[in-house]
Amino acid sequence: MSARRLLVTSALPYANGPIHIGHLVEYIQTDIWVRFQKLRGHRCVYVCADDTHGTAIMIRARQEGRSEEELIAEMQRQHERDFAAFDIRFDNYGSTNSPENRRVCHEIWAALRREDLIVEKSVSQLYDPEAGTFLADRFVRGTCPRCGRPDQPGDSCQCGATYSPVDLIDPVSVHSGARPEIREATHLFVQLARLHDFLVEWTQCGQHLQPEVANYLKGHFLHEPLKDWDISRPAPYFGFEIPDSPGNYWYVWFDAPIGYIGSSQQWCDRHGEQLDDWWRNEQTEIHHFIGKDITYFHTLFWPGMLKVAGFQLPTKVHIHGFLTVGGEKMSKSKGTFVKASTYLKHLDPAYLRYYYASKLGSRLDDIDLNLDEFAAKVNADLVGKVVNLASRSAKFVETTGLSATYPDDGGLFENAAAVGDEIAEAYEVCDYGRAMRLVMELADRANPYVEAAAPWNLRKDATQAKQLQDVCTVALNLFRQLAIYLAPVLPRLAEQTGRLLNRPIEHWDDSKSPLLGSPVAKFEHMLIRLDKKDIDRMIEESRETDSPETPPAPAFEDSGQPLLDEPLAEQCTIDDFAKVDLRIARIVEAEEIPEARKLLKLTVSLGGDERRTVFAGIKSAYQPQDLVGRLVVVVANLAPRQMKFGLSQGMVTAAGSGGVDIFLLSPDSGAKPGQRVH
Ligand code: 2FM
Ligand code: ZN
Repeated sequence: MSARRLLVTSALPYANGPIHIGHLVEYIQTDIWVRFQKLRGHRCVYVCADDTHGTAIMIRARQEGRSEEELIAEMQRQHERDFAAFDIRFDNYGSTNSPENRRVCHEIWAALRREDLIVEKSVSQLYDPEAGTFLADRFVRGTCPRCGRPDQPGDSCQCGATYSPVDLIDPVSVHSGARPEIREATHLFVQLARLHDFLVEWTQCGQHLQPEVANYLKGHFLHEPLKDWDISRPAPYFGFEIPDSPGNYWYVWFDAPIGYIGSSQQWCDRHGEQLDDWWRNEQTEIHHFIGKDITYFHTLFWPGMLKVAGFQLPTKVHIHGFLTVGGEKMSKSKGTFVKASTYLKHLDPAYLRYYYASKLGSRLDDIDLNLDEFAAKVNADLVGKVVNLASRSAKFVETTGLSATYPDDGGLFENAAAVGDEIAEAYEVCDYGRAMRLVMELADRANPYVEAAAPWNLRKDATQAKQLQDVCTVALNLFRQLAIYLAPVLPRLAEQTGRLLNRPIEHWDDSKSPLLGSPVAKFEHMLIRLDKKDIDRMIEESRETDSPETPPAPAFEDSGQPLLDEPLAEQCTIDDFAKVDLRIARIVEAEEIPEARKLLKLTVSLGGDERRTVFAGIKSAYQPQDLVGRLVVVVANLAPRQMKFGLSQGMVTAAGSGGVDIFLLSPDSGAKPGQRVH
């Protein structure tokens, strides 16, 4: 087979949050595919980037008192660190806020203009007069116009209603707590309907999309004229200004997929390659890996843009489902929303790579991380069946090395070599679950051979030395075949195997011929058993409360530990209690105080114009950006207190003992800022 030329992408992660185990499904899935293709001898380039633009980044940077550039640079460092630790190896990791990306955006924009696909329309949008910004739907909350349920997001309600944020009753901006105004602004739209015929052909031809995706598009979008796509946002907006429409910026979803090309450009520049050889060349296959939530952008809008601008269309868009943990959505309060960095403190990344591989198929089904199964599978398969083959045989041939001719193994090696094609086919179509099952079937055949031959007994009898060497030669060659087949999933195991047997694994076809006569290095640990307690610790560390809390008084200061298991306070009367004026308040700003160990600076709204600054000792448990918009309970009549970082005009209530054990109190939905707690 001649070498293919492949350009592969994963979706660009947003720069406003950390990488978590949900993201990792996709990056691990893609990385396995890329490593598989490289091992098969194909030319394969894997690019990705941080998705950096939009209002969320702008507001967060403002709240944190730094520039967007500083914020996104820090997030990118964190993302790249986490990906590297999970052995996700990009050929280039860029940023949508790069000069390369800007240039490609200009080029695609010019093509859209040339084809006269852009129209201007006036749009009514909610505007936050205090934050000075238009509000995306998720930054507005208010009462549902259908059922009257309060505190609902700007686009949909728990009752199932979907609406425009301008229809919300009593809307508030989550940025400032201000009542948004309706403002008109001119937006630019792409007339996607003009690409309808092309998109029907491209999506329905059976080549590029999973069949269920093609059907979904036909049933949901392509059965009627495609709607114009709103592609601009008025200033202020963190992004690229549209060259021929000053004061307007490309919406983040315009320049995000273009980031695939921007990142490819950086790779080309570093390697003396031409972008057109990769993006305007029919010989290049382009493969996107994405989650099902962003299907629309990648299967309608994106091919449309590429077509108009004369770029190569995606060969395949590989779409996967979501991650559930224990059959449920990842949850912060249950500790199942696990950040990559938290996982790494407790568990070996190889475990998750293997487990995800064993669960991933070619379809869009959600994949479930069942923690008991996770531990059982890793231990039974990787440690019990694979690594065991090497650990039980390598040490007996450390001095002799492998036999010079391949012994009779009853056809085990030959059979495993033949199964390689089937395993490769499964990888190719992203059915890694099948690939892993086939590999484990081979392991299930190899292990009884070693059991029966019992090298640990042979070595006791000097007359059996040749037999011992032969048995270990078979065991290590069968092990090596498995390590080759698992190399896309477990690159470190492949490297360790290369070192053990003094021959790096370089090609898939290395599985076809046994290693003979080579020296064997001292066996070193490859993978250790997964200890279920480490999973428990990881979950414990990830546990946060979904509804906030307030620490007791000591937690509001920058010193002193809150008390554990406090005894009940002295009895008080209702009049005593009434002296404490507890009010519902909305957090409208939350700032980090870099010099403070425990404190965050909060601005809370008590309704109307009533604002308070409160220093709360909750830094160890909350990120400022997660607090903005939340309702809390404050002690509103507490005497103001001068603190090192400013005047504290109240106290936010919380339970817990400090550290991560801090739980802000919040009211049931329906409560309004300013209401008194009785
Ligand atoms: O959904 C997301 O997380 C987006 N940041 C993905 C962008 S993918 C591509 F289009 F850039
Ligand atoms: Zn409703």
